[in-house]
Amino acid sequence: MLNRLLHREYQPSAGDWDREYASGHWRYLAGLPEMARMAVIVGYAAAAGSPNPVILDVGCGEGTLLKALRDLPYRTYRGIDLSPVAIERARASAGPRDSFEAVGADVLTPDEAPDIIIFNEVLYYLKDVEQLVSRYLSMLGPEGIAIVSVHVRRRHNHIWRSLGRVGRIVDQVMVRHSIGTAWQIALIKPPE
Ligand SMILES: C[S@@+](CC[C@H](N)C(=O)[O-])C[C@H]1O[C@@H](n2cnc3c(N)ncnc32)[C@H](O)[C@@H]1O
Repeated sequence: MLNRLLHREYQPSAGDWDREYASGHWRYLAGLPEMARMAVIVGYAAAAGSPNPVILDVGCGEGTLLKALRDLPYRTYRGIDLSPVAIERARASAGPRDSFEAVGADVLTPDEAPDIIIFNEVLYYLKDVEQLVSRYLSMLGPEGIAIVSVHVRRRHNHIWRSLGRVGRIVDQVMVRHSIGTAWQIALIKPPE
């Protein structure tokens, strides 16, 4: 309980994230142990309703997921993140369909309705998951979906309860790597 309360209040600033990215702390997210988890996200994105989706990646970090998504026939990919350092690095891998912006998830208003919204290892850091995810689900175009990846920890169970209250978890997979880390990845649709 204490853990959960503490974690709920753990919201590093943009400067904190910048320092961590500058130090190389998050480089491991591009490593092999993350590959299977990313592959499930890509699989869900490929199976989504829209043939040429508009993708919004919330908390995209250095753009690691974009490299895995690149072969999909998406129309546009937009990555947003609180950290200008991460965004600067992500821009190096942007192609003509891609854009990156240093902006907080709480203030973003997309100019185009996304078909796929991705929350990849970011929900832990958001102030009010329920309110924020609910707002993002309401931005989705018809047939739109959200894809969520969350590290398996008891203290993260509240995230799944929040997601269940604001959306429909229509499919869910657990990926467990031999290093001992596990993630749950889910495909979520807005309430009917
Ligand atoms: C664990 S990293 C995951 C990065 C990326 N999704 C990946 O899996 O490679 C969490 C990311 O969330 C970003 N973040 C944290 N709070 C945020 C917020 N309020 N709005 C946007 N991004 C945020 C951080 O800057 C960081 O890049």
